[in-house]
Amino acid sequence: MAIRIDGKALAAKVKSQVAAEAAKLPRKPGLAVVLVGEDPASQVYVAGKERDCAECGIESFGHRLGAETTEDELLALVRRLNGDPRVDGILVQLPLPGHLSEETVINAIAPDKDVDCFHPFNVGRMVIGDPVFLPCTPAGVMAMLDEYEIPIRGKRCVVLGRSNIVGKPMAALLTQRDGTVTVCHSRTEDMAQYAREADILVSAVGRTGLVTADMVKEGAVVVDVAMNRDGDGRLCGDVDFAAVEPKASCITPVPGGVGPMTRACLMRNILTAAALHQA
Ligand code: GUN
Repeated sequence: MAIRIDGKALAAKVKSQVAAEAAKLPRKPGLAVVLVGEDPASQVYVAGKERDCAECGIESFGHRLGAETTEDELLALVRRLNGDPRVDGILVQLPLPGHLSEETVINAIAPDKDVDCFHPFNVGRMVIGDPVFLPCTPAGVMAMLDEYEIPIRGKRCVVLGRSNIVGKPMAALLTQRDGTVTVCHSRTEDMAQYAREADILVSAVGRTGLVTADMVKEGAVVVDVAMNRDGDGRLCGDVDFAAVEPKASCITPVPGGVGPMTRACLMRNILTAAALHQA
């Protein structure tokens, strides 16, 4: 039976380190959290991030905007936050309502406050191996692999999904650690064939039941990034956990796996930003 990777416990450890470091700064770190519209999942995620801030001694400034907010209004808020010295990090929760360009809004965030690591400047720095911030979910996955002493160098890594938030930066970080990385996506012919070769399989697609036992090599490490709802409304990932667990050597559960680590790595990025601003 596989070792279950305890993301919740590791996240608690990371957050207590962040809290200890934050307490040493002359001024409390600050995060501005911007939520546009009433997407229920986003409301839950944002509330969780604000709770984490409180636990870490980070001040959070919430900005709830109506779904009808114009791009000009949102950009004006981002610019105001860029210039606010109490704000070290700016998080605009995605997805945005359809009439707003995520790209335009992300590009407007000052790179030194881009704690999601979504701005092209920070993505570039990360890809060349000279990061300011690390993307939260991929960094959380790397921290879990390291905590459980899972070797990456020379290993066959397969990432399912090519989003800007997870798939692409995940592939970049695994490559930097000398993994041999294949990225599969919606146009991949026979995804299962690639998945079966993986020593480390990371699924970040968002489709319940995508990863079945026949797609997993005996002894593989399986990381499930997805946050889906099953037919009964329960939180689940992409991986058929019950069927895959007996084949894997290590596996992340959903919930309690990657999710808490994403949030812990956000806290770490806010600390990094605050340290930069208060240096
Ligand atoms: N939506 C889903 N994940 C994320 C994230 O990590 N950051 C932001 N800003 N929005 C998200």
